[in-house]
Amino acid sequence: MKILGIDIGGSAVKGAPVDTKTGRLLAERHRIATDRKLSPQEMAATIKQLAAHFNWTGPIGIGFPGVIHGPRITTSANLHKGFIGCDAVKLFAKATGCRVALVNDADAAGLAEVHFGAGRGITGTILLLTLGTGVGSALFCNGRLYQNSEMGHLPIRGKSAERFVSAAAKDRRKLSYKEWGKELRDYIGTLENILWPERIIIGGGVSKDYQKFFKHIKPRAKLVPAEFFNEAGIVGAALWAAEQD
Ligand code: BGC
Repeated sequence: MKILGIDIGGSAVKGAPVDTKTGRLLAERHRIATDRKLSPQEMAATIKQLAAHFNWTGPIGIGFPGVIHGPRITTSANLHKGFIGCDAVKLFAKATGCRVALVNDADAAGLAEVHFGAGRGITGTILLLTLGTGVGSALFCNGRLYQNSEMGHLPIRGKSAERFVSAAAKDRRKLSYKEWGKELRDYIGTLENILWPERIIIGGGVSKDYQKFFKHIKPRAKLVPAEFFNEAGIVGAALWAAEQD
């Protein structure tokens, strides 16, 4: 199937048509930068612009950084608060005239990795963490996705873990890879004591520098970088839409 995959992020909205049989992009990824938090209406106009860029009329899968219940967004930790309670499927379908499916962005990235990347062929429990503006998670048990796992909001010192261990927190707190790696070691250690995954996959732009911080984490599970760098969210959102048929 050919599906337009879209990844809504903190600083940009990215998309490309995806062949859901192979996980390959069928055209070059298009990125629209967002210099501030867009309201749902403004986001709908941006999604429309992205679909128009590809002259798209087919199905669309969209990943959003928040808890998703059916067609609705339930939380929006780092994007516009107007998304909370918003029926985004209806809003984006109206803007584009296309069939839309909605999924959490980290769940989307996890689907891409489990089907075509660092988690393919692995049974048992897989935990994917995306380290970016926030911390996203995707949890799989024997190939099945446990939706909206939200491990980035595990409390550390009374606040969401993502305030300390996201890539944005590393920059904001001016941490070296070693200092940040040690914080990640404690955080991932806590997650391991609860979830006991076989494999942990680290995604997000910073995963390309994995050699600089993996050595400080020392987990029980096998720790691997994501195989998709910028494209996991796009590919996974398309896979999600294909599964909703
Ligand atoms: C959100 C998650 C999202 C993650 C990564 C968190 O703040 O609550 O839903 O997956 O950021 O974007």
